[in-house]
Amino acid sequence: MSVTVDGKKFLELIAGNEMKVAKLYRDIGDEVGLGQGFFERMAADEDKHEIIYRGLLGRHENDLIRETEASTAHYVELLLENDLLQHVDELVESARHLNFKSQIFDLCERIERDSVMYVREFMDLYPDVAPQEMKIILQEEKKHLQMILEKKADRSFFGIGM
Ligand SMILES: [Fe+2]
Ligand SMILES: [Fe+2]
Repeated sequence: MSVTVDGKKFLELIAGNEMKVAKLYRDIGDEVGLGQGFFERMAADEDKHEIIYRGLLGRHENDLIRETEASTAHYVELLLENDLLQHVDELVESARHLNFKSQIFDLCERIERDSVMYVREFMDLYPDVAPQEMKIILQEEKKHLQMILEKKADRSFFGIGM
């Protein structure tokens, strides 16, 4: 069965998430003792992604209603309803009660995994909407995930016995 899906909500959510992630990265750089470089590099990409998504919202406003399988529409709906970043402040706060550095890197990993997944899902639903720009965003989100994973594996950074 096919149903209509309106990608406007999807794009608005991912644009808003870019803004939240950029803010988070700028807030935590000093707190985890990494200075600004590591997180600022990613935050600058997230700023750029937000601008691209907002631009797409403007240019494709009337072009995001599509027919898709009911199961796909339901899946996307569930992803959006359960979006991790709607609770970002609580998650950061609860990380403060444990080992902040390791908790926050777990959170960043989940955020970047979601980013990769959202971009892929969007490209699946809208293969004709800005494919070149979406491809670049996907590469950058993968790069972010890679940076987080590499940092997580850095035993000296996390003070794990060498
Ligand atoms: Fe991003
Ligand atoms: Fe990212």
